[in-house]
Amino acid sequence: MQAKQRVLTGITTTGTPHLGNYLGALKPAVAASQQIDTDSFYFLADYHALIKCQDPQTVHRSGREIAAIWLALGLDTDKATFYRQSDIPEIPQLAWFLTCMTGKGMMNRAHAYKASVDENQRQLNSDLDQGISMGLYSYPILMAADILMFNAHHIPVGKDQIQHIEMCRDIAMRFNHSYGEHFVLPEAMVDEGEPKVLSGLDGRKMSKSYGNIIPLFAPADELKKLIFQITTNSLQPGEVKDPDSCTLFEIYSAFASPEETLMVRQAYANGIGWGDMKGQLFEYLNHYLTPARKRYEEIMTDPAYIEAELQKGAAKARAHSEPFMQRLRSAVGIMSLVGGVETKTTGVKAKKDLNQAEQAKVDAGKAKAIAIAKQRVEQETQQVALEVEALVKTIKSSSDPKAASEQAIRALQEKVDGAKKKAKKTLQQTLELLKQQLTH
Ligand code: TRP
Repeated sequence: MQAKQRVLTGITTTGTPHLGNYLGALKPAVAASQQIDTDSFYFLADYHALIKCQDPQTVHRSGREIAAIWLALGLDTDKATFYRQSDIPEIPQLAWFLTCMTGKGMMNRAHAYKASVDENQRQLNSDLDQGISMGLYSYPILMAADILMFNAHHIPVGKDQIQHIEMCRDIAMRFNHSYGEHFVLPEAMVDEGEPKVLSGLDGRKMSKSYGNIIPLFAPADELKKLIFQITTNSLQPGEVKDPDSCTLFEIYSAFASPEETLMVRQAYANGIGWGDMKGQLFEYLNHYLTPARKRYEEIMTDPAYIEAELQKGAAKARAHSEPFMQRLRSAVGIMSLVGGVETKTTGVKAKKDLNQAEQAKVDAGKAKAIAIAKQRVEQETQQVALEVEALVKTIKSSSDPKAASEQAIRALQEKVDGAKKKAKKTLQQTLELLKQQLTH
């Protein structure tokens, strides 16, 4: 059976999601999580937030707001896995493994880093790395860990993130090449259809960095105020207007049905006044957003509910990440010394180089190791004895003890022959003891 496709995306918890984010990311993600053939993983990228924002209160509050937005929009958290990046300790652990697989040269070419270098160049800074943290520099690696941790196939992202997905594939390939096929190579899912980029108050793309956004859940009075600030041209009421170059129309049609949009298009042809049109847009949006905004406001007053949802998601996510990380740790050779891979003894100093105190430590360590080994042998022997006792009991109580004992010995011998080194030893022990007991 083909496993379900995994879709994964993260939202950095800084700033307030706006109408553009809603149309471009949130709405499609909530819809996608309903599809039965996909497993969706949506998370709050709060470790990523630390790159951009060093104000603890903002980081904290933004995490709560963004979680509340997802929940208010009706994300089904039983279907989707909805969690907070920082609740998954395996993600930063994996990030380190991946850091060791990432070429520095590749990171030098990351857009976010290069943009900062270019800015320093433009400002004629002698240090081109001025103000650039290692967090910013290596953030594509953390992002790769987010994705690879869950072996996601499809990553819905904006165009600006495509490069990061490519880097993620490159890192995953290197890891797979060194340690075996552990990672799926993810693909960016970019909406190639009509560009769902919404214009902001000043007509440029709606973006926090232009300060021209309409927050998704702005209270009604603020929403109204912002809509009335949207730039229009100086045409008077009664003059024919062009809807296709107008931000008001663009926002309206992004939310409205085709029929409603057609009617407004007609109103432009009939020379609707800007004040009127702004009023209509406000009414429409306010009506559209009110139910979800109400839920949002309710949820925001109940942080315990949000936290419980996130904990539920974390538990679901960790059911994948914990065992997977265990596997990856073994793959790179990091695991318990008991029952694991052989460790190399290089690096241990020669005896003659040790001073007395060091020697005492080494001796104490050895003594402890020998004691543990003895204890294990004792435990194993005891285990074997118990097993044999049980076997003998069954054999003796069977209707034909002779045949049963022969059969038990044969079966065990077969197991011994087929077993690997260590298991073979224990089985052999069991067999000897059983034979002994049965002949007595
Ligand atoms: N870097 C992404 C952004 O700024 C957010 C993000 C973090 C992300 N980790 C991710 C997106 C993993 C997709 C997959 O938009």
